[in-house]
Amino acid sequence: MQRISAVSEMTAWSREKQRQGETIGLVPTMGYLHEGHLTLIRRAKEKCNRVVVSIFVNPLQFGANEDFAEYPRDLSRDENLAAREGADVIFAPLVKGMYPQGFHSSVEVEKLTDRLCGQARPGHFRGVATVVAKLFNIVGPDQAFFGQKDAQQLAVIRRMVADLNMPLTIVGVPTVREPDGLAMSSRNVYLTPEQRQAAPVLVRSLREARELIGQGERDAAKIGGFIRQRITREPLAVIDYVEIVDNDFLQPVDKLAGTCLIALAVRFGNTRLIDNMVVEV
Ligand code: PAJ
Repeated sequence: MQRISAVSEMTAWSREKQRQGETIGLVPTMGYLHEGHLTLIRRAKEKCNRVVVSIFVNPLQFGANEDFAEYPRDLSRDENLAAREGADVIFAPLVKGMYPQGFHSSVEVEKLTDRLCGQARPGHFRGVATVVAKLFNIVGPDQAFFGQKDAQQLAVIRRMVADLNMPLTIVGVPTVREPDGLAMSSRNVYLTPEQRQAAPVLVRSLREARELIGQGERDAAKIGGFIRQRITREPLAVIDYVEIVDNDFLQPVDKLAGTCLIALAVRFGNTRLIDNMVVEV
């Protein structure tokens, strides 16, 4: 496996492989890889001849009071993990390589970014869409792999690719969880032991809501209220949002119909965790 940090070298590598008729899968990450990321790499290996894993903590998607400086980083550990999964390249550009002086462009996906995490994190999805569009242009992958864990991010990227005719396929991968159900996240390392023990209340409340829906409940306000009540019972948990939206445009629904997304964000101390569940009725 090679490590590439220069943008021009990354593009040259991809062009050469594609000239030889090989397909390229891209797994964009911010590093500190865990089993969720490794599952995306495995999926990319299954579907493409070559796999590029990008590792870039993207300053554009962090708010002024967010954890850009403290975000966990360990490139040599990530390299070992990615190599073990059979990745061909780790693309780890520098901030000044991605955003050289004079950089002034951005990609804005409207409407889908107003609600859910977009409300508490203004500018976040502009930063995500911009860096992902740049990675697509630099690497030129045939397929790119994203986790369902970040459901709004996945919807925004699918919209961007469709709207801007980007010539690649987006593959969504189901959320990978700890044995107790907590969705894996690089931010889980911030949790104190007490918060870590409390955190599975998120997935439990979603699973209990699924049972309620299985029994025939379709009223979004009732289902949302049920989830809020379950989470509020956990004293360390502070709800940011619990929302039930349609899966494409992420607009609130009154009654569950078709494919809906139940998405939530909850704070444990300073750590904000998200989780979600797609329901088909
Ligand atoms: P990061 O949080 O590192 O996540 C990289 C990819 O891993 C995303 O597609 C995310 O949805 C996926 N992922 C994270 N936890 C997962 C889990 N438990 N199960 C399945 N997939 C999981 O998301 C980002 O980085 C950035 O916003 C990025 C897209 C790289 C742009 O900077």
